[in-house]
Amino acid sequence: MAATAVEAWDERWATPEGRADWLVPHPAVAGLVPVLKARGAQHVLDLGCGVGRHALFFAEHGFAVEAIDGAAAGLDFACRDAAARDLRLSLRQADADTLPFSDESFDYVLSWNVIFHGTMGDVGRRLAEIWRVLKPGGLFQGTMLSKRDVQFGRGRAIAPDTFIRGSDPKAHPHFYCDLAGLAVLFAGFELLSLTQEEQRRPGSWHWHILVERR
Ligand SMILES: C[S@@+](CC[C@H](N)C(=O)[O-])C[C@H]1O[C@@H](n2cnc3c(N)ncnc32)[C@H](O)[C@@H]1O
Repeated sequence: MAATAVEAWDERWATPEGRADWLVPHPAVAGLVPVLKARGAQHVLDLGCGVGRHALFFAEHGFAVEAIDGAAAGLDFACRDAAARDLRLSLRQADADTLPFSDESFDYVLSWNVIFHGTMGDVGRRLAEIWRVLKPGGLFQGTMLSKRDVQFGRGRAIAPDTFIRGSDPKAHPHFYCDLAGLAVLFAGFELLSLTQEEQRRPGSWHWHILVERR
């Protein structure tokens, strides 16, 4: 597991201030519900669910939801929020590198701002796991960091296109890619939609990706 990334998020999820920006579903994710319904999707995995904003949203819309994260504090908050809203879903602590699910389990896997913490090899392994647990024709929606991001190239390079920012030796790695990198990483998928979006801060460029498992 990219342990340092999970540790940093675990600390953040433990406080109301840390959670504050991560409680409302992203419009691109919320907007996929009609598409999923039209395709007859039922089984959904939120990989790296954080405090559960998307997992609970999908449960609210009637999907059968599994949600995993490495950070216990986020799962704990999601569990309490689900109980308060009377929502049913499965939440468990697990690692994106070895998903605890059988092959071809899900119609849709979401991993929003998660899988890029690591090297290109780490990202490739996670995408192979996502491909494995998706049914043929299932959808993956997620984000990657773009080389257009203002942070690209800043900090300590630990592998090609992978940087650790700040002086904290435990700070977590970020992998950035361009179109050519995406083509390699997503070779097992059919591209349905790809945009570059600034998230939260100016210059914070992310790829927003929707693909179908071949
Ligand atoms: C930026 S937060 C995003 C949370 C959620 N996807 C959202 O959009 O609200 C990243 C989350 O991914 C989790 N994470 C990062 N690397 C992980 C890994 N290798 N395995 C499991 N969870 C991981 C972190 O613990 C954190 O909760």
